[in-house]
Amino acid sequence: MADPIFEPLAFRCLTVKNRIFRSNVSGRFDNYDGSGNQARINWETKFAAGGVGAIVSSFVPVTIRGRIVPNYATIDRDERIPFWKAVGRAVHEHDCRFIMQLSHAGRQRDIPGIEYEQAWSCTDRDEPLHGFPCVAMTQPQIGETVAAFAAGARRARAAGLDGVELHAANGYLFTQFLSSAINDRRDDYGGPLPQRARVLLEVVAAIRAEVGTDFHLQVKISAEDYNDALDRHEKPGNTLDDTVQVCKWLDEAGVDAIHVSSGSYFPHPRNPPGSFPVSELVKTYDQLLSSGSRAFRNYLLFRFDPTQRLFERRWEEAQGDRIEGINLPAARAIKEAVGVPVLCTGGFQNAEVIREAIRQGFCDAVTMARPLIANNDLVKQFAAGMGRPARPCTYCNKCLVHAVENPLGCYDVTRFDSYDAMVAEIMSVFEPAPFA
Ligand SMILES: Cc1cc2nc3c(=O)[nH]c(=O)nc-3n(C[C@H](O)[C@H](O)[C@H](O)COP(=O)(O)O)c2cc1C
Ligand code: SF4
Repeated sequence: MADPIFEPLAFRCLTVKNRIFRSNVSGRFDNYDGSGNQARINWETKFAAGGVGAIVSSFVPVTIRGRIVPNYATIDRDERIPFWKAVGRAVHEHDCRFIMQLSHAGRQRDIPGIEYEQAWSCTDRDEPLHGFPCVAMTQPQIGETVAAFAAGARRARAAGLDGVELHAANGYLFTQFLSSAINDRRDDYGGPLPQRARVLLEVVAAIRAEVGTDFHLQVKISAEDYNDALDRHEKPGNTLDDTVQVCKWLDEAGVDAIHVSSGSYFPHPRNPPGSFPVSELVKTYDQLLSSGSRAFRNYLLFRFDPTQRLFERRWEEAQGDRIEGINLPAARAIKEAVGVPVLCTGGFQNAEVIREAIRQGFCDAVTMARPLIANNDLVKQFAAGMGRPARPCTYCNKCLVHAVENPLGCYDVTRFDSYDAMVAEIMSVFEPAPFA
């Protein structure tokens, strides 16, 4: 019987050669101003050469105001098109597709740049993790942002990329509007679910008007908010039923796929699932110290053993009992409700688990982030008959806490022969060098 992992997946106007997509991973490889460089091309090429069918890009801001941190390549102006064309060309050489994640952070930033003081959001309540200030967007500002997404999609198409994904998951701008825990507006963009979903549906319509119906458009969404995962005083936010309804509307509006994640903020105990290495985080947290109103409180909490341990315990409890396929039950519920293919993210690393998820109809394909950071060529290993890599990702999340300050890569030294070998692998993203 054919291996479901290596069956092509046909979307409405895009076909991917197998069922493993590189999930979105952001690293600060690009230039401060949002232009790209060779390191990004090297990074994406690693996964394309490693056998994934498609790459869903990192968070690509549609405006400078939509950044999480500086040094992410943007799609905010036409001058960016040649760079993304070069990225697409490099990836296509390996028969791999490239889908750009069109994104806007809203109030959820990691560190601010110098360009503006207050973020735009659906609300004027501070972002809760670090305490970044924000203002509730006016209707003209919403209109401007909808237009920026449509322009981003036009540029992605002009760059020859294979599609776009709207980042409506994990606490960024769309989640802020969608979530019943975050959205406190009293106008047509707040209140009942159809009004909270309005901005996302307006963006889908604006993109279709801009690029037509023959360009792949998918949406990454948090199936459940679990907004009270760490703080029981918070509201829980959207349920799976809410999200199933939003996905039905997205399907009717003409999106081509749904990508299932979870959590109303990022990082969240359920995304990426695994440990939260607080002792490692203090090495990079200085980047945040001067930023939000809660950052110094967090730093003190993370700095000392007893509070570190309390936080780590709370984090692991909030995650539940499953890492690999953590979002599969939610993906199945969404798949039963929509006609378009469903992608599922979260912990996938064993070939047999992926095969079963597809065979049993929980999802049509899986997306993988950390297991591919750890083993860039994992899909080739599966193709060669390996069920699991010899040195698997340990879900330690050290890559995540380093990403705000250091180059993205695997920081679990136990997976390497030595510390120097680990650093050599991380630094290999700079080969070939930008000015070789
Ligand atoms: C370092 C890092 C950066 C990430 N950046 C993004 C991002 O830019 N956009 C996004 O939607 N998800 C992002 N994620 C989430 C992943 O795409 C993925 O959904 C999540 O890690 C669960 O999959 P995994 O268990 O295969 O890592 C990031 C995860 C990590 C670890
Ligand atoms: S640091 Fe390495 S082992 Fe740890 S979660 Fe990230 S990729 Fe996996």
